[in-house]
Amino acid sequence: MVTAPNNTVGASSRAPRAELLDARRDGAIERAAQIIRAGGLVAFPTETVYGLGALGLDPLACARIFEAKRRPHFDPLILHVAEVRAVDAVGHMQPTAIVLAERFWPGPLTLVLPRHAVVPDIVTSGMQTVAVRVPAHPVAHRLLEAVGTPVAAPSANPFGRLSPTTAEHVAAGLGDRIDAILDGGPADRGLESTIIDVTGDAPALLRAGAIALEEIESLLGRVIDRRLSSSRPAAPGQLEAHYAPRTPLLLSEPGASTDLRAAGLLTLTRREGDDRFAAVEELSASGDLCQAAVRFFAALHRLDERGLDVIYARPLSETGLGVAIMDRLRRAASMTRR
Ligand code: TXA
Ligand code: MG
Repeated sequence: MVTAPNNTVGASSRAPRAELLDARRDGAIERAAQIIRAGGLVAFPTETVYGLGALGLDPLACARIFEAKRRPHFDPLILHVAEVRAVDAVGHMQPTAIVLAERFWPGPLTLVLPRHAVVPDIVTSGMQTVAVRVPAHPVAHRLLEAVGTPVAAPSANPFGRLSPTTAEHVAAGLGDRIDAILDGGPADRGLESTIIDVTGDAPALLRAGAIALEEIESLLGRVIDRRLSSSRPAAPGQLEAHYAPRTPLLLSEPGASTDLRAAGLLTLTRREGDDRFAAVEELSASGDLCQAAVRFFAALHRLDERGLDVIYARPLSETGLGVAIMDRLRRAASMTRR
């Protein structure tokens, strides 16, 4: 393993090869925290997907995130903190935010709040709001505690590509552009956090994610406004084309006479005749959408690695987590239509 000396951490935009840190080993989390505190980039596990972490209140460290991901600067970052009480330092928690936080934090919920001045413009893309999350993953929690200040972290993938749910996915996508990868095993939710904007008069959903909207609506006792438009996204990163494999992806069934010898299939449950495809990924034999969400990105990564001509994704029902999965499939398919 090549270990970058501390004084070079983050000094170059192209690190030699990310240092691999096994979170189960003594000192690994502390080492990851040390690299972040020195201004470097460390990918780390959360319960949703792997994040690419940097010092969230340091504009230069955050700039490296954009460079490594080749992410446009109009797409703001989420700040991650270890404890709910640490959120007050970066944003203002109004009553609805407090209700949501009590129920869902730590967990896969991101709240968009009015920002405080301490948050750099690069984090918010110059907006007066800031996105904040308190992850539940024990490794993320310990890392955030060890860093001691907010950590900005987008998903640890090249911009527009499939999100990473394992350390291997991160290494394949960004391994030569970041300082370290903290391996904490596969993410146990598999879809990004649900994003709720609580800065307006009524809360609004900006991204469907690992918490189903129905759960949030039943807690708040009201219907939540959906602002998921992809042409003018309220969450600027929610572009029409996103989450895309390299292989063309079609969100449909193939025609009856289509040659499927170089075609893959992503399906909730296998059906008779599916063995006509060169490769099939079944997300949940019992049709369980939670299990499907957990497996979703990893299944797409596997299909993408097969060198197929096309991937067919079979539409699934848009209830519960099906909304978030279909949202990602539509964006992935929209990359193919271009
Ligand atoms: O589960 C997750 O949320 C993962 C893990 C690592 O925490 N993070 C993640 O980050 O998915 P990213 O950068 O891939 O997606 C963040 C989304 C983007 O669509 C961005 O535009 C939106 O959050 N966002 C960030 N700050 C915002 C703000 N102030 N207002 C509206 N949307 C915001
Ligand atoms: Mg992302």
